[in-house]
Amino acid sequence: MPRTFPPGFLWGTATAAYQIEGAWAEAGKGESIWDRFAHTPSKIEDASHGDTACDHYHRWREDVALMKALGHQAYRFSIAWPRVRPQGRGPVNEAGLDFYSQLVDDLLAAGLTPVATLYHWDLPQAQFEAGGWPARATAEAFVEYADLVTRALGDRVKHWITHNEPWCIAFLGYQIGEHAPGYKDEWGNALAASHHLLLSHGWAVPVIRRNSPGAEVGITLNLVPVSHASPSAADYHAGRRFDGYFNRWFLDPLFGRGYPADKVAEYTALGHWDPALVRPGDLEAVAADTDFLGVNYYNRHLARDEQAPDNAPPVEFLAPRSEWTDMGWEIYPDGLYQLLCRLHFEYQPRKIYVTENGVSYGDGPDAQGRIADTRRIRYLGDHFAAAHRALQAGVPLAGYFVWSLLDNFEWARGYTQRFGLIYVDYATQRRLPKDSAYWYRDVIRANALPDEG
Ligand code: FCB
Repeated sequence: MPRTFPPGFLWGTATAAYQIEGAWAEAGKGESIWDRFAHTPSKIEDASHGDTACDHYHRWREDVALMKALGHQAYRFSIAWPRVRPQGRGPVNEAGLDFYSQLVDDLLAAGLTPVATLYHWDLPQAQFEAGGWPARATAEAFVEYADLVTRALGDRVKHWITHNEPWCIAFLGYQIGEHAPGYKDEWGNALAASHHLLLSHGWAVPVIRRNSPGAEVGITLNLVPVSHASPSAADYHAGRRFDGYFNRWFLDPLFGRGYPADKVAEYTALGHWDPALVRPGDLEAVAADTDFLGVNYYNRHLARDEQAPDNAPPVEFLAPRSEWTDMGWEIYPDGLYQLLCRLHFEYQPRKIYVTENGVSYGDGPDAQGRIADTRRIRYLGDHFAAAHRALQAGVPLAGYFVWSLLDNFEWARGYTQRFGLIYVDYATQRRLPKDSAYWYRDVIRANALPDEG
């Protein structure tokens, strides 16, 4: 049986401004927290930064032409806030808006559906200095910025994502410290940031709808399904705690349930959570009705309570049975199926898009310039198959965006990780489609997965 996807299913790729654009201080762009972070010694694994990245700011025409040649139907990109409003609030940089406006025109002319993310982590440094996401004023600044951008592009862009992965912004930025602005153990700030991110999303939704009639508006979360190392109660509870921290903390308020009571109790007892952050009307705003949920899926979490003295022996191990990517992430396609089903049965988003899924492997060109990234083809095929099973279970999945179009600057990992369907030779900026790019072209053309076996 051919595994066919529904008519109109949207296939594309995803990128983010800081990871590909470069031109970090060009044409009136302001400094972002990622410029500052990457310019700080010892923050990035290979001591690199996004100053030039894939030079997409100058090569976007070539990149759009590649997408078209490879048969893509949609392109998810992000808009750099400091390019269009360099100081966060204050003067608008028309040159920044023009860049995205031309990109959108070119995408449409090439027959591609533009899907724009308003915030993929590059906060203007000035807005950070004014308090950043732990401050409520940044939520107000985001709405002004969203208003500005959707006024300029809302006639042509009809798919809007407010935020990319609020968990990463709040917790990698303030609790784990791996991402800009790079603070550790600041639980209070991480939680305040998470609330203001969600609030700014909710406030922005009606503004975007007003400026972009008929548009689909949503938010993208990175979500992680939980498996348990043993069937013990201790591991069950460890899984529940993790799920609250990572998944429910964002899903519950977005879908009108408020912050999960178990986590509120835990964070309050630890002195991390200030209930006064949530003002009257906030929860209603956060739960704004949206058209879709964007899901970024890469891996699962294996829950294990190491502290419980009499815990049952583990029956499930990540290593050595599992396969791992160059990121050190376990490959677990069934997790995508589990996650999509859970979201549909538990939260009922109107639609779901997989807004990111993909894999880092270092394969490069052979003597003939061919990149035989068979492991990526297998990875994508297995994950598309999981998505297809979810569709058969009734999940309203409407599209799939492979991370990523190009090899690019992978945040704290710098250029050590290659996620692209297209190889980038950073010395020359030459783009070389990998075998997976041609394989993906054929999947899109057929709107179906090749036969098994
Ligand atoms: C996600 C990010 C994206 C990319 C992938 C690998 O968390 O949204 O920018 O770095 O991971």
